Amino acid sequence: MIHVDSEHHLFHLRNGFLSLVLRVQADGDGERELLMPYLGQPLGDPASCLYLCQPRGGASFDSPRQTLPYACPTDGRGDYRPALVCALDGQNQRCTELFYTGYRIETGKPGLAGLPAAYVEEPGEADTLYITLRDPLTGLEAELCYTMYVNRPIFTESILYKNTGSAPLTLQNAGSACVTLPGRYDFIHLHGAWAKERAIERVSPARLTREISSCRGASGHEHNPFAVLAAPDATEFTGECLGAALVYSGDFSIKADENAYGSTRLTVGLNERSFSWRLNPGETFQAPEVLFSFSAQGLNGMSQGLHSLIRQRVCRGYWRDRERPILINNWEATYFNFDHDKIMKIARAAADAGIELFVLDDGWFGKRNNDDCSLGDWVVNREKLPRGLEGLGKDINALGLKFGLWFEPEMVSPDSDLYRAHPDWCLHAGNRRRTTARQQLILDMGRTEVQDYVIEAVSKVLREAPIGYVKWDMNRNFLEAGSEDLTDGRQGETAHRYMLGLYRVLETVTQAFPEVLFESCSGGGGRFDAGMLHYMPQTWTSDDTDAVARLSIQYGTSLCYPTSAMGAHVSAVPNHQIGRVTDMRMRGDVALGGNFGYELDLSAQTPEDMEEIQRQVKQVKSIRETTQQGVFTRLLSPFQGNVTAWQFADDQRVILCAYRVLNMPNGEPLRVRLHDVPSGTYCTPDGQSMSSADLERAGVPLPFAHRDFASLVMVFERIS
Ligand code: GLA
Repeated sequence: MIHVDSEHHLFHLRNGFLSLVLRVQADGDGERELLMPYLGQPLGDPASCLYLCQPRGGASFDSPRQTLPYACPTDGRGDYRPALVCALDGQNQRCTELFYTGYRIETGKPGLAGLPAAYVEEPGEADTLYITLRDPLTGLEAELCYTMYVNRPIFTESILYKNTGSAPLTLQNAGSACVTLPGRYDFIHLHGAWAKERAIERVSPARLTREISSCRGASGHEHNPFAVLAAPDATEFTGECLGAALVYSGDFSIKADENAYGSTRLTVGLNERSFSWRLNPGETFQAPEVLFSFSAQGLNGMSQGLHSLIRQRVCRGYWRDRERPILINNWEATYFNFDHDKIMKIARAAADAGIELFVLDDGWFGKRNNDDCSLGDWVVNREKLPRGLEGLGKDINALGLKFGLWFEPEMVSPDSDLYRAHPDWCLHAGNRRRTTARQQLILDMGRTEVQDYVIEAVSKVLREAPIGYVKWDMNRNFLEAGSEDLTDGRQGETAHRYMLGLYRVLETVTQAFPEVLFESCSGGGGRFDAGMLHYMPQTWTSDDTDAVARLSIQYGTSLCYPTSAMGAHVSAVPNHQIGRVTDMRMRGDVALGGNFGYELDLSAQTPEDMEEIQRQVKQVKSIRETTQQGVFTRLLSPFQGNVTAWQFADDQRVILCAYRVLNMPNGEPLRVRLHDVPSGTYCTPDGQSMSSADLERAGVPLPFAHRDFASLVMVFERIS
């Protein structure tokens, strides 16, 4: 899988899906630089791409360096495109030069100290190439780590920085990965805001640098730490696409740059804007990992590579491969206004419907009857729950349901016992004002004593009550983010130290309670990233639960993330976020495309809706293995038309889900063709048998009901 061609100074990482070629090449002064001339479909002879290592440009203003595909570009050397590395020396010089010093190859894949990363279960699943570069003047070393999976269209990259010199350095930029492809590519990314996360945007870099980023302290609602370079003619089913997902949950930057010399570069890593890091002699700094997925068969192929990698080799633990329970969450049913009896009323209706898990949301602790107090005081409110969480949990368990609980552990309300005791524990910038958002401040998770407090506060609750599920929320972003712990000019480390501290907390708590199912959340989908999924195998996709809005949100999310990662709930109408009325059928049909649940007052439904809910619960139980673990394919996009369709497939069945937003006279597609149906014969929903080839070629008609907001879920069971 990793071949070293010493004659041409080439490294060729190759599997059945892709080739990645790296080359060591001497510059005009004989210094050896590292280039990445090729990344794409598997090559027979890696030397065939050597022409891509020729510098171009002739006039004195053409720096040959701006035409070369550097694997680890640095500042100050005439490669004027976005760089990965900038280290300031004692004189604040930005210029950094990194020259090749050696390599080693290992089977398997290493973990990353303190950071989430993809993994292998057997060493034979992947091979890893380490290449070391070094700046002879400062002693900065960068160890580039490339892992190629054997049976996946995936490679990963991360970089370990080390100060091997004798004087301190300041990393101003410590990126994770860079690829430079010859030619023009479209840049596809996911953007949004609260309640409208992850809409698909596709632009041509047009000889510009485009950047998506966050400096919010979380990956954020606005941009997702994921992007695609796609051939301009690539579609869902055709063309070359390279997806890059950063395994990180905080401030990031992804840049796509097309320059005048006809190549497109993608850089991925921490956001320089909110980062600097003091690196003393002998110290190392680990940059987060990037997952790359390549497909020559369009966006679906690229997404499917990431789906199975994230599901099987980023997510971990007891729940990774298990069917996820159908839950009922009381947030939209009661908000803060509940007590033991009200909760039990909903729980009894849930048990009657066959629901498996009750989640008690915000408002169970301190004196929290609205959102202006008590975060940090993780002690049950006995006025609402006189028998405590233990009593409530036991009563819920007695109905046959598991019991789950909401926390927002990274936060503190100014009106809380925790803040009164430790006013210095929140992020703050010296004597500047401490601006609240949703009336709360953020704990400084970079500090060990704060981490220890959070670990113990959450663990105590989990030890004392029968809790099988945790919703881990984070409801505001950074403002005036500084840390009292960081003196001596190190404030630029605050944001990344926050993430390292949070990851330590998550690792400790999730390992201590291995059978608890954790779901992350940040005002809905404000921290939906591969980093969080390493600790918590599912994420609340969006606070917007409207069925029509969810079509775009879930479709967009699927560009990178598997459906087993997406929480999707049926909520009340008129919808609380946007006031739309859709029927129970459509709401259920949309939600079954993720981890299914309800978010409404089940004790106040009409008999007809209750009957429909019972049908949905039964249906989800019979097909969720396929919807959560099967291959997901996007068929018709809500961003392009009135009809959305997607498909799930495994060895047992194929499920076609189709949704029409508005009814229209004529003009609608009458059928949809299924894709990559495992070969065999299938029983159609009306009892006919149909071959996989015919399902793909003839397709199936879409008999939508004669109204707006219509949906169809068609299950084709495989019979031979
Ligand atoms: C966030 C979450 C919601 C709910 C509320 C509770 O907004 O996204 O689902 O838990 O917090 O305050």
